[in-house]
Amino acid sequence: MKPGYQKYIPFQPQKIVGRTWPDKVITKAPIWCSVDLRDGNQALVDPMNLQEKLEYFHTLIDIGVKEIEIGFPSASETEYEICRELIEGGHIPDDVTIQVLVQAREHLIKKTFEAIRGAKNVILHFYNSTSTLQRKVVFHMDTDGITKIATDAADLIYEMSRPLIEEGMNLRFEYSPESFMGTEMDYAVEICQAVLDHLHATPDNKVILNLPTTVENCMPNQFADMLEYFCKKIPGRDCAIISLHPHNDRGTGVATTEMGLLAGADRVEATLFGNGERTGNVDMITLAMNMWTQGIDPQLNFSNINKIKEMYERCTKMPVGDRQPYAGKLVFTAFSGSHQDAINKGTQYMKESGTEYWEIPYLPIDPADVGREYEPIIRINSQSGKGGAAYIMEHNFGFDLPKAMHPEFGHIVQVETDKVGTEIAPERINELFHQEYIDVKEPYKLLKHAFQESVDSEGHSHVTFWGTLQHTDTIFKVSGEGNGPIDAFFNAIKDEKMARFSFLDYASHAITNGSDSQGVAYILLKDQRDGKEYWGVGLSHNINLAPLRAILSAINRAKRNHQ
Ligand code: KIV
Ligand code: ZN
Repeated sequence: MKPGYQKYIPFQPQKIVGRTWPDKVITKAPIWCSVDLRDGNQALVDPMNLQEKLEYFHTLIDIGVKEIEIGFPSASETEYEICRELIEGGHIPDDVTIQVLVQAREHLIKKTFEAIRGAKNVILHFYNSTSTLQRKVVFHMDTDGITKIATDAADLIYEMSRPLIEEGMNLRFEYSPESFMGTEMDYAVEICQAVLDHLHATPDNKVILNLPTTVENCMPNQFADMLEYFCKKIPGRDCAIISLHPHNDRGTGVATTEMGLLAGADRVEATLFGNGERTGNVDMITLAMNMWTQGIDPQLNFSNINKIKEMYERCTKMPVGDRQPYAGKLVFTAFSGSHQDAINKGTQYMKESGTEYWEIPYLPIDPADVGREYEPIIRINSQSGKGGAAYIMEHNFGFDLPKAMHPEFGHIVQVETDKVGTEIAPERINELFHQEYIDVKEPYKLLKHAFQESVDSEGHSHVTFWGTLQHTDTIFKVSGEGNGPIDAFFNAIKDEKMARFSFLDYASHAITNGSDSQGVAYILLKDQRDGKEYWGVGLSHNINLAPLRAILSAINRAKRNHQ
């Protein structure tokens, strides 16, 4: 064998002239078929038991899936029993079709017909492998031999279906040339046309031709070329529903499906969260929500993705990754400072502009569309910027910090995240805020105070302030006058070694927490001695007291800085 990468045979692309798929766009949802209970189930370490399969089946129905492959009833007694329970237990709504898989082998086909007795709508799905590699190493057969397996099965299925159809069963057929991706396209056309003929397919009685990427071994554009070629070449195109069944070995199952739809497919077989053999089947949720974000109704309901995820993880014992599109724990979270900033601005823009569209950078979808509106979008670690901490203070605790204060508080939070090296919770951010601004009661403290206000004949207000302050162990009285409470207080403390501070900025608002409403004031002072600026924050039920506390908070912080 050749060493390393040289031992692999490169994929031979299908030659196609005048391809049209790259110019197309997806405009409507395909027919969806879930293969969770078959392809997904057969790939599990512990396949689902009856109860789990029933719960999963009902979830698929709630999502709106109308075609569900329930298993491989001829493969084992358990699979057979599950099929019978679904039919006899009345679990299948009238508008839902169950699909059963069977190999193109006589005794298995007969057993499958037994399993579907009494069902209203059924798709009988049979397959045999057609690829060059499988013909060479597994079947040791030429193409005629492989075609005969498929057409013999088609004949038997057609014959056995007659009485059931006469009794009123809505029985349709699906054929998969398994390993289609590794099959020469002219041969794929030949075998599929033979199957259509043997099943007497007509435009009114279409047969599903399911074209699987059993193993995904080429690029999505190469697959789209194959599919367009196949659709153009097959004589009975109007007698067939072209179905995709993508796996994900190269990690491009979604792209393969989307390009396959451009190239002419009508139907998609997929699973929730992409469960399935090896790297999985294509993920139905990603496909559907990708359509949703392009303004297309996917005809499936994923409005409560967390509930679906919980069911999926419990029944399959497979974890959904934190970065799984639309469903992962972190997919609506921004840690990075610039992303947080843009999300903030986008949210603001949407509020102010009244736009009808979703226009928030870094959030391709409104989390509410998948029922995730209550999860934190902005979380704080060492990568986060100044806006992130302010966002948390506003959204979690109601403190609308002045924009000019964001860098100062952002820095305080960043020092902490650098120190701990992990994400910090909103509660810790709030604690830092209180420690830094609100609980700084040293060295100055306001013990008692009173205001008197008078308004002169010209409508000007005059306020007098009297207060008792404490500086470490010394208690002293101050008084001052001004045109408002802040001015009066500021004048009162000027003579008490606080004259070096000048007033730069002020903001205030109410914080309502249930029926309790408090005022918060933010004040920016400048220390004339060194030119440094300090924010102070004051909180009080009394609207006049909050700014006084804010002034003392700023002064105390400045003093602390000079110790
Ligand atoms: O991946 C595959 O080819 C299959 C077929 C049985 C349809 O699962
Ligand atoms: Zn498969």
